[in-house]
Amino acid sequence: MKSRFIGIGILVGFGLSILMATGAFAAKNEIVFDVSMGKVTFTHKKHSETLQNNCLKCHHTWKQGETSGKKCLECHKAGPEGKGLSAKEVFHKTCKGCHDEAKKANKPAGPTMCTQCHVKK
Ligand code: HEC
Ligand code: HEC
Ligand code: HEC
Ligand code: HEC
Repeated sequence: MKSRFIGIGILVGFGLSILMATGAFAAKNEIVFDVSMGKVTFTHKKHSETLQNNCLKCHHTWKQGETSGKKCLECHKAGPEGKGLSAKEVFHKTCKGCHDEAKKANKPAGPTMCTQCHVKK
């Protein structure tokens, strides 16, 4: 009886580890950046799927297989007085950077114009 429970436990654990390794577990569906320039709606889950769950494309300080960690803003502080790159710089590099490159390569791309990402009500 006991060993059966352990067997089930291992199976469940194995299933969980697959979910976590693929990142299906932790990825948030949608993230909205509410900034003065206009709200940016980021389809987090859709992006993860488009990028074959390669979380490291954006979460560049994570190790392979990691599913959570520090937020971008914990290292990339907003504001010009901070050292290193600002939030605006790194978000534009990451988001717009990938869209620009994909567009140049004639691949499916996201928006590259300010007001396509920053939507004012
Ligand atoms: C296209 C870029 C991109 C990809 C790919 C991506 N993320 Fe994210 N993720 C972000 C951004 C941007 C945020 C929001 C900013 C922040 O809070 O750090 C975020 C936030 C998160 C958060 C919430 C952080 C928190 O504490 O609230 C988790 C968890 C997360 N991502 C997990 C994942 C996992 C797991 C994957 C891979 C399956 C993944 N992400 C793929 C860009 C991405
Ligand atoms: C644990 C700290 C940490 C976290 C979390 C982090 N970064 Fe960074 N990132 C750095 C450091 C350090 C650099 C080196 C440049 C600098 O001084 O800012 C960097 C550089 C960058 C660069 C510039 C790369 C280049 O080639 O010029 C981009 C873009 C970037 N980060 C985007 C992000 C995004 C998007 C997130 C969240 C999904 C994130 N970072 C989360 C520490 C972090
Ligand atoms: C590594 C590449 C990559 C990165 C990084 C990336 N995107 Fe995208 N994005 C895409 C692609 C590819 C599409 C088009 C998807 C499609 O049409 O199937 C897209 C589509 C979009 C769209 C159009 C609506 C939608 O969700 O399909 C918006 C808005 C967008 N991205 C915002 C962002 C923001 C904000 C960030 C940064 C937090 C970001 N993207 C980071 C590749 C990327
Ligand atoms: C691919 C989507 C995307 C495009 C295109 C884009 N941005 Fe952004 N922008 C963002 C994201 C994401 C942030 C980060 C929000 C944050 O700091 O939390 C941001 C931040 C900003 C900020 C700082 C935050 C604030 O107070 O508004 C400014 C200013 C800004 N963008 C202006 C622009 C301008 C001007 C353009 C056109 C040249 C542009 N953006 C194009 C996604 C985009």
